[in-house]
Amino acid sequence: MRARTSDIDKAAGVLRGGGLVAFPTETVYGLGANAEDSAAVARVFQVKGRPPSHPLIVHIGGAEHLGDWVENVPVTARLLAERFWPGPLTLVLPRGRRVPFEATGGLETVAVRVPDHPVALALLAAFGGGVAAPSANRFGSVSPTTANHVRAELGDEVDFVLDGGPCEVGVESTIVDATGEAPSVLRPGGVTREDLEAVLGRPLAVHSTSRVRVPGQHPSHYAPRARVVLVEPEKVVAEAELAQELGHQVGVFLPPCFADAAVKAHAVVAIPGSMAAYARGLYGFLRELDQRGCDLIVASLPVEEGLGLAIANRLRRAAGPRSSA
Ligand code: TXA
Ligand code: MG
Repeated sequence: MRARTSDIDKAAGVLRGGGLVAFPTETVYGLGANAEDSAAVARVFQVKGRPPSHPLIVHIGGAEHLGDWVENVPVTARLLAERFWPGPLTLVLPRGRRVPFEATGGLETVAVRVPDHPVALALLAAFGGGVAAPSANRFGSVSPTTANHVRAELGDEVDFVLDGGPCEVGVESTIVDATGEAPSVLRPGGVTREDLEAVLGRPLAVHSTSRVRVPGQHPSHYAPRARVVLVEPEKVVAEAELAQELGHQVGVFLPPCFADAAVKAHAVVAIPGSMAAYARGLYGFLRELDQRGCDLIVASLPVEEGLGLAIANRLRRAAGPRSSA
């Protein structure tokens, strides 16, 4: 879905004026501000309720602009940018001087990506600069994959919402730390580890949590209101029915192998067999179960390869540190 030219121009004007624009990317919707405007960036943190030490991603219009935003571009970073941009890959690199510390949470590195969405690219072209944007949700909650998710969650606190239809990928970008000799994955996402390793020609380390230090321990992230409990796939139905009998309003993520099971629960979501479809639907499913009044969601982890790695990472983080059954 393409936005009208008048909407793109209006959104670019809002960014120039120091305002906030929610915009679609191929992964999730972002809450954008002019990356070079410290006050606008500070408002992003305020609207999200995010600690200021938690850095943002700077979105740019093309790989050719990367050198404008980082101190230097190591060979591996250039290789990855050429292969995967525009696309769901974020590169962490030494901070260029034009990036204010407000955007990097005080770090000397900056996260940069080129989103693969016609509306995002049109906005970046019309605006001309970099757009610092986290996912357009409140801190800790589920990322938005439609414009309506953004409106429902942030409402009037965003100056303009650009609607580009539902996001194709559905989980956030893969974040690769490309500052050192050996790149590593800080967050699994839309570009698979296997695809990255094929380009780099060597195995990649995956850190389950970001190495960025944040004050305090946040119990969960990417989390719906309902508590998420993870169990083995073959136990999903039994655990869900037991919790429902005990008085919970249970939402079930039913694995494809049990698609025909009749489950005695409050709400059932049939998980798609394809990982691409599961990733695309994941955040919408979590929001739907919240909306239907579930207080407990029973799910299992997919096989952790391809997009399954990113899905499993989000489900674990939604469940929090102690919520595995
Ligand atoms: O797909 C995406 O990446 C979406 C869309 C809108 O582009 N954005 C997104 O942003 O997921 P956010 O803010 O929700 O997540 C960005 C993550 C944070 O976990 C942050 O810690 C990490 O990127 N990050 C940002 N700058 C970093 C840096 N300099 N070093 C390490 N991690 C960084
Ligand atoms: Mg986020």
